[in-house]
Amino acid sequence: MQIDKNVENDGVIFMSIKGDDKDGERKASSGTGAQKAAASDKSGLSASEGDDVTILAIESSCDETAAAVVRNGREVLSNIISSQIAIHTVYGGVVPEIASRKHVEKINGCIRAALSEAGVTLEDIDVVAVTYGPGLVGALLVGVSAAKAISFAQNKPLIGVHHIEGHISANFIENKDLEPPFVCLVVSGGHSHLVVVKDYGEYEIIGQTRDDAAGEAFDKVARAIGLGYPGGPKIDAAAKEGNPDAFTFPQAKISDAEYDFSFSGLKSAVLNIINQAKMQGEELNQADVAASFQKAVVEVLVGHAIKACKEYGYDKLAIAGGVASNTALRTLMEKECGANGIKFYRPSPVLCTDNAAMIGAAAYYEYKKGVRFDLDMNAVPNLPLGDRERRFHAGKA
Ligand code: KG4
Ligand code: ZN
Repeated sequence: MQIDKNVENDGVIFMSIKGDDKDGERKASSGTGAQKAAASDKSGLSASEGDDVTILAIESSCDETAAAVVRNGREVLSNIISSQIAIHTVYGGVVPEIASRKHVEKINGCIRAALSEAGVTLEDIDVVAVTYGPGLVGALLVGVSAAKAISFAQNKPLIGVHHIEGHISANFIENKDLEPPFVCLVVSGGHSHLVVVKDYGEYEIIGQTRDDAAGEAFDKVARAIGLGYPGGPKIDAAAKEGNPDAFTFPQAKISDAEYDFSFSGLKSAVLNIINQAKMQGEELNQADVAASFQKAVVEVLVGHAIKACKEYGYDKLAIAGGVASNTALRTLMEKECGANGIKFYRPSPVLCTDNAAMIGAAAYYEYKKGVRFDLDMNAVPNLPLGDRERRFHAGKA
């Protein structure tokens, strides 16, 4: 995987992610734009069975503006991410109003770049897909509005995608053999879920966090020990220099819900150690705290996921979300999966963070199931995972 990066004048990082399979053949379109336009209409009765489905996918739920062109759910023709992270770092976290404004500035450029890198035009697109929740409402609205405008202007079917379902589907892109059912651990800035992916688009949540999400815990602890934002990658890097056994932090178990997570006690334990050190005038070793905290989080995540596979009888385990790029998590999960005869799937780190290729992957399977959204689709900031609320939007499906 190759990432071409360009830092723009406003600090936004423009990235084009290219897969290993080289251009040429994968860009050859099945049918001209005109043919496709003739075969496709808003009812979604486009491409006949067996035809390629080319999806333009858009993502803008947080601080990344992203657009991608994905064919048949697993073939990424282009993957463009415009990251605002450097801008928000100054404030120690994402500022929603700034995020929305930057999305407005960047979205058309991202879509244009995605189309041009894929070697297609809007005419060649069969479906427009977009993240419609959960996320920051003002940020989501930018992507949703762009997708609706293109769907309306080009008379192409529109599909709304749940952001976390997108993260889970990132696993399909590089693992062509992965098919449901499997267990997936979803760990991002806003979510910590253990789910059984029963079928494409069918999820059963078997565990979730009672308080902070895993990524949120990384971000809060990083701030407390002076590593700054974004916390996850900084703790990951610092931990490499630290002793994971320097401190023993609590690993919460919830007696009536064995697959649920709780990270607030762990966060408080870290804060207590920081305060104690301050009172005693001692200098804390940042790397040791980072490594010990990371070990506590990772052991709980891996322990729950492996237990779920064994008890529910699944031999495939995937991870997804921003925290899935954590090196300690990937290493321990690989080891434990190996020891328990479970096949371990994980996206490349760049596909763990927010991107639109994963939205295109999820949308493909929704499209195949006949899901279609009307132009009254709205951003739903607290959209629950696995909720079939989308059916409500599905209109003429
Ligand atoms: O999935 P994501 O990009 O956005 C959301 O949907 O929330 O996840 C962002 C979260 C942040 O909390 C960030 O600190 C965390 O993922 N993260 C990491 C790592 N990279 C990103 N956490 C631990 N280790 C990492 N290497
Ligand atoms: Zn995300």
